[in-house]
Amino acid sequence: MPDKIDTLFINCHLATMADTALSVIKKGALAVTGKTISWMGKEKDLPKNFKGRCQKIIDCKNGWILPGFVDCHTHLVWAGSRSNEFKMRLEGATYEEISKKGGGIFSTVKATRNASTEHLFVLAAKRVNALFKQGITTLEIKSGYGLNLETELKILKVIQRLDDHFPLHIDATFLGAHALPQEFVNNPDGYVDLVTQTMLPKVKSQAIATAVDVFCERIAFSLDQTKKVFETAGNLGFNIKLHAEQLSDSNGAALAAQFNALSCDHLEYLSLSGAQKMARHNVTAVLLPGAFYFLKQTQKPPVDVFRDLKIPIALATDLNPGSSPVHSMTLILNMACMLFDLTCEEALLGATINGAKALGLDCSKGSLETGKDADLVVWDIDTPADLCYLAGLSPSNIVMIKGRIHHDEPYN
Ligand code: NIG
Ligand code: FE
Repeated sequence: MPDKIDTLFINCHLATMADTALSVIKKGALAVTGKTISWMGKEKDLPKNFKGRCQKIIDCKNGWILPGFVDCHTHLVWAGSRSNEFKMRLEGATYEEISKKGGGIFSTVKATRNASTEHLFVLAAKRVNALFKQGITTLEIKSGYGLNLETELKILKVIQRLDDHFPLHIDATFLGAHALPQEFVNNPDGYVDLVTQTMLPKVKSQAIATAVDVFCERIAFSLDQTKKVFETAGNLGFNIKLHAEQLSDSNGAALAAQFNALSCDHLEYLSLSGAQKMARHNVTAVLLPGAFYFLKQTQKPPVDVFRDLKIPIALATDLNPGSSPVHSMTLILNMACMLFDLTCEEALLGATINGAKALGLDCSKGSLETGKDADLVVWDIDTPADLCYLAGLSPSNIVMIKGRIHHDEPYN
């Protein structure tokens, strides 16, 4: 029993997400001491005199407490807009066709290279704010719209500033190998050399990213090129992630598994053998239904295989200007159920503990457990499934991060 309690939540139900299940405690209470959860259980089992020792007691009025959402895959630092391409795609152009004509990622790269650091920060801060208000307490952001040393570092520094500015925990991932910049069209391996020999050591020495990601795809980087990036990244001690089998099966997931990647993301075209390798190396599958939806894809990721092989399934917004301009985790929860046939429980685990696994943060984030960071949201809902069902609504009331309340909308 903790000696000191800073905040005690009472009159609530808890969905803990511990032990890979929703794990409900009805009529619960949760105590926070400093930055961590110090006690949880049934309210009737609260030790005697406990309430008298609390600095602050919050009556949740029968609401639900869940761990804060972990959005483990975003590209939210960009300038410019791709709404023109959205219109082109509505008229029948495909994502790959637009990319081959120099649009897509390349048009965002142009705008991002031309934007000042200050302007990029202002644009990105609005997006982080939107996610934060909806109960996201941990966030990953990738670089990848620079594709030269100067702009990749500019993006990573903006991510660092966002982390300093907002109470959310933000992890940066270096995605220099996102697309082949136009100045290297005739020398793709030269760009891979630039990434491995110049960019990665610089990013490491400045300590401004914890993970390295690659877009392994026929419109981006080959398996061999991806391997070169992973070899250097692994030697430098970065965590490994991969955009794998989004538009075709490039065998990327199997390669990433060999490098003990934290996650493989997208995975619509994943083969059984790729999944088996992921299972063997404990790689989390990050599903991105926003991109599947926006690209009008039809081939679904092999969710039954993930279930059979007990591969953790995480969900993320993939917030980016091209394939997933989705600013809502609850909308993603709904899409995961409707488009990928996840159960509400699987979707909620995907947006919490399994998102934390995809970032290697599951020791401190993603579930309500004593000793873990007090990152939690009190939701004004009747049941956790409401977060999947009430598509796009985020009926949050209180957002706590590391024991501090940051967003407090009292019940009407
Ligand atoms: O996750 N697949 C590659 N990267 C992003 C899309 C980036 C873009 O279109 O700007 C994704 O879908
Ligand atoms: Fe992505």
